[in-house]
Amino acid sequence: MKRFIVVTLLVGLAAASVWSSSSVVPPAPNGITMPDGWRDWRVIAVSRRADKHQVRAILGNDVAIAAARAGRTNPWPDGAIMAKVAWKEKEHENFPGAFVPADFVQVEFIVKNKAKYPDTGGWGFARWVGLKLKPYGQDAHFVNECFACHTPMAANDYVFTRPARFP
Ligand code: HEC
Repeated sequence: MKRFIVVTLLVGLAAASVWSSSSVVPPAPNGITMPDGWRDWRVIAVSRRADKHQVRAILGNDVAIAAARAGRTNPWPDGAIMAKVAWKEKEHENFPGAFVPADFVQVEFIVKNKAKYPDTGGWGFARWVGLKLKPYGQDAHFVNECFACHTPMAANDYVFTRPARFP
């Protein structure tokens, strides 16, 4: 009996750890998997799309944060990953004119690896949509859409974001 309880507990713990990790989120159609731990990454910048009524946080992994803080962002170093997290914006109910995050919209990533992604400026692109984190794109060609819109930023390593200044 005791043994049964221990085994049941262990199986339960194993299931819980798989459930809580990103491994249950399906990869993007180009094979990129959701980076672990992105919810705890630090801020590079924020942005707002007035036309889409969205606010965004642009976050970086440790490599991206170190590069951003040191001003080494053109080009960004291999291993840098940026996440852009988007929420619908709403006006704060107690303070008109203050716009704050409402529903989660999507999270998307650019992953720097010059050898792996030579055709898209050295960046791998991936996006997951909605709270269910559904991979975006019918097939691997979805990256053409990402890269086409990021191409005008070629002189800035295909990146729109300029790291916000911290005092
Ligand atoms: C229609 C144009 C457009 C398309 C298509 C597009 N982006 Fe972007 N992207 C932007 C703009 C503009 C910004 C910066 C402003 C902002 O925060 O939205 C940006 C910013 C980003 C950032 C933050 C780093 C940076 O470059 O500033 C990531 C990550 C990102 N996009 C990923 C993607 C992915 C992945 C796709 C495809 C699934 C994609 N983008 C498609 C316009 C686009």
